[in-house]
Amino acid sequence: MKKISTAHQQTGLTPEQQEQIAAAAQILRSGGTVAFPTETVYGLGADAANPSAIQKIYRIKNRPADHPLIVHIGDISGLHRWAQAIPESAWKLAQHFWPGPLTLILPRSAHIPDCVTGGQDTVGLRMPAHPVALALLRALGPEKALAAPSANRFGRISPTAAAHVRQELGTEVDMILDGGMCQVGLESTIISFHDEIPQILRPGGITLAAIEAVLQSPVLLAHNHPQTIRVSGALPAHYAPATPLRLYPTAELWRHASALAEQGLRILVITWSDSDHLRSALNRLIEQSAMPSDPAAYGQQLYATLRQADQSGFDYLLVEMPPHHLDWLAITDRLQRASYH
Ligand code: TXA
Ligand code: MG
Repeated sequence: MKKISTAHQQTGLTPEQQEQIAAAAQILRSGGTVAFPTETVYGLGADAANPSAIQKIYRIKNRPADHPLIVHIGDISGLHRWAQAIPESAWKLAQHFWPGPLTLILPRSAHIPDCVTGGQDTVGLRMPAHPVALALLRALGPEKALAAPSANRFGRISPTAAAHVRQELGTEVDMILDGGMCQVGLESTIISFHDEIPQILRPGGITLAAIEAVLQSPVLLAHNHPQTIRVSGALPAHYAPATPLRLYPTAELWRHASALAEQGLRILVITWSDSDHLRSALNRLIEQSAMPSDPAAYGQQLYATLRQADQSGFDYLLVEMPPHHLDWLAITDRLQRASYH
């Protein structure tokens, strides 16, 4: 049988998607903004070399001007263009984990606008793995890159579906590319090469253990970020739903839920273990969202679950503390920030 090779088969993208990507690239070239899917969360992108396009991102997000943006590139060779004095260990990680959910903080090259880096002397770079993101970057060409924060208002939950972006940013964005549900569901791991020993500034889809295994040397985990490095994802209150969220160990979870329900409050309990509360008259005030007990599956669903909960009129979200295991680090990090009120 004769094989017909279509563009769809080569890229995994439908002709409609390819048309939309071409239109999105045109919008970006003329200084507009496009929300696009990545494997972590949806990004709000603009041409990284166009300061007036970058300003639109800050306006749409209500983001303080000194919080730097991640620059997304379509090929590892883009590292040369956007960064300089790149240490060997950074190359190793890029070669091993890109395209993928890892952002490298490196000394910036001269031609990056100040507004992208928040005036700092470093730049965050990442090559995303989502086929739509890669096709968009390739349509823009090797000279171009996309500065893109997560496509949500500052401090809120990152979007993991195109519908989330539409609900939150609507017509303020020139175009939204739909690439389905994000696979990872939590933002990228951020690692800084500012000091001699690399340091993880934000835990994410790529674990510390995986990074150490590739480098064959230890990596630090930043607990308290120096005030001079402005990582908005490192503010104590971030990634937050509008409904108050509390984190409790499994043994205390249902007691707290019952106490709040006794006051007539509507509670959603979010669990990962098969813990179940005793059936009681308060049941109608307490609902349970049973999440997967596998951290990868939990991470993928977390933000969508919090968004859904926010729209359901609960007075409190009570979340079961995740297991104390490195595989749950990124999830625990986000839940702790979401619970800070
Ligand atoms: O997975 C992700 O990283 C997603 C997708 C869209 O790629 N992006 C994302 O961007 O989470 P954003 O802006 O929401 O978070 C990026 C974080 C911020 O906390 C920012 O402060 C930090 O990266 N960052 C960017 N450049 C930096 C730099 N030069 N030094 C230190 N932190 C930096
Ligand atoms: Mg964000």
